[in-house]
Amino acid sequence: MSASLFEHLPADDLAGFAPAARLDELRRGKMKRVEINGAPVLLAVLDNPDHIAGIEVVAFTALCPHALGDLSYGALDNGEVDCPDHGYRFDVRSGACVFPKLGPSLRTYPVRVLADGTVLVKVERPKWMSPIE
Ligand code: FES
Repeated sequence: MSASLFEHLPADDLAGFAPAARLDELRRGKMKRVEINGAPVLLAVLDNPDHIAGIEVVAFTALCPHALGDLSYGALDNGEVDCPDHGYRFDVRSGACVFPKLGPSLRTYPVRVLADGTVLVKVERPKWMSPIE
């Protein structure tokens, strides 16, 4: 998931989002690992001429859905990350597995960038991890 820069959003739209980084800590084409609610998350700034300032911020899990390889050590290139363990490749915007074609999808997270440069990410636990009521 991604977001336009400098969105001005009502507070209600930010429910569940947590501060993850500052925009000036992120480098174009590089990944930054953070922890949000105990989950390892990678942030990346990608070129996107359709967005304000020509960039967008994306967030996705650092754990490869194939066998939990650490994507922090993978290579990010042209909006795709390669897993260092077995070479699966994922589109970090959509989460789609681009190699092999029928591989599992990468979990992505919604991002908001505030006017002051704070990058917010919403990490939701899958329903199966929620406590039974
Ligand atoms: S653990 Fe990532 S490709 Fe196997």
